[in-house]
Amino acid sequence: MSPAQPMNLVVYLARAGVGSRRSCDELIRDGAVTVNDEVVTFPRQKVTPEDVVAVRGEPVTAQELRYFLVNKPRGVASTRSDPHADRVIVDLVPGGRSLFPVGRLDVDTTGLIILTNDGVLANRLMHPRYGVPKTYVARVRGKVSRRALGTLRQGVDLEEGMTSPADVRLKKQSAKTALVEITIHEGRKRQVRRMFVAVGLPVEELSRRRYGPLTDKGLEPGGYRELTGEEVEELRRAGEEVAGEVAKEVEGSPLMLAAEAQEEAADAVLTRADVSSEAYTEASSDEGESQPFEAGEAQSAPADESDLAESPEEDAGLDDQDEAERGQPDDPAEPSGAPDAPPRDDDA
Ligand code: URA
Repeated sequence: MSPAQPMNLVVYLARAGVGSRRSCDELIRDGAVTVNDEVVTFPRQKVTPEDVVAVRGEPVTAQELRYFLVNKPRGVASTRSDPHADRVIVDLVPGGRSLFPVGRLDVDTTGLIILTNDGVLANRLMHPRYGVPKTYVARVRGKVSRRALGTLRQGVDLEEGMTSPADVRLKKQSAKTALVEITIHEGRKRQVRRMFVAVGLPVEELSRRRYGPLTDKGLEPGGYRELTGEEVEELRRAGEEVAGEVAKEVEGSPLMLAAEAQEEAADAVLTRADVSSEAYTEASSDEGESQPFEAGEAQSAPADESDLAESPEEDAGLDDQDEAERGQPDDPAEPSGAPDAPPRDDDA
């Protein structure tokens, strides 16, 4: 935040660590907060860092906004505290206890997660309305058919409804497993794992490789780096750009103005600790594989030949005809000739 940029009083207090948004809201309405020695009871009163804000006479100061990109290793919980986990994500970054993770990854999932104290941006990135793209590489068990790829792309019928269209690419097919890259624009609980299970391909390993404009390039598992100002701006724009498209497409209403979206986000959430809605939460469960592999329950969609003709799947060793349709057993040959490896891009 630039020094002169105004923000809502309730935002200021939450950012000063006074409490959750709800408790700050109550403090303000109760008359416990002064701005430049004047009692203010309107939580959305604008203040700047030059204003002197006090709670029951004690001056408080909003913290500088901080943004880190972390490459979460396996076994680390992506929460601020978890009595059952050996390690939590905020402990990977010095001073990380004052930050909160933007969305979640399963304990077993590796990859990119943002830590910040910027609740407005966090909310925008997590909100399904904004559909910020997230790219994962999954190692799945089994042979990937064109039909499965088609279904994953078009939408999978999960318990709570169809998934929205995804970009899906088979990177490599080995004898028993395959590497598949998938980009989704939602963040439902254990979404990627459940999508693959639904098409009969249980996930053995999962890694998030891209988050909006950010990639894991140069960031080893367990590593972190502070985002540059330019990257933070890119993230903000990613939210705004998608917000416009989604507002137009889904709601059929005029584009949501960035300022309105910002206000809405500020109202909805200030600190990640306050975000409990599962609708916003990515993969917040830390359970094991959600369902056993049940080939009979796999969903499928008709293969789209025009799509297939242009797809890069030939390179990954995918046959022209769906194996399942021909009723043939999996081909034990390993088209790429390479042994299995962790789901990294260089497997392609
Ligand atoms: N989808 C999942 O299934 N798990 C994650 O950790 C993230 C997305």
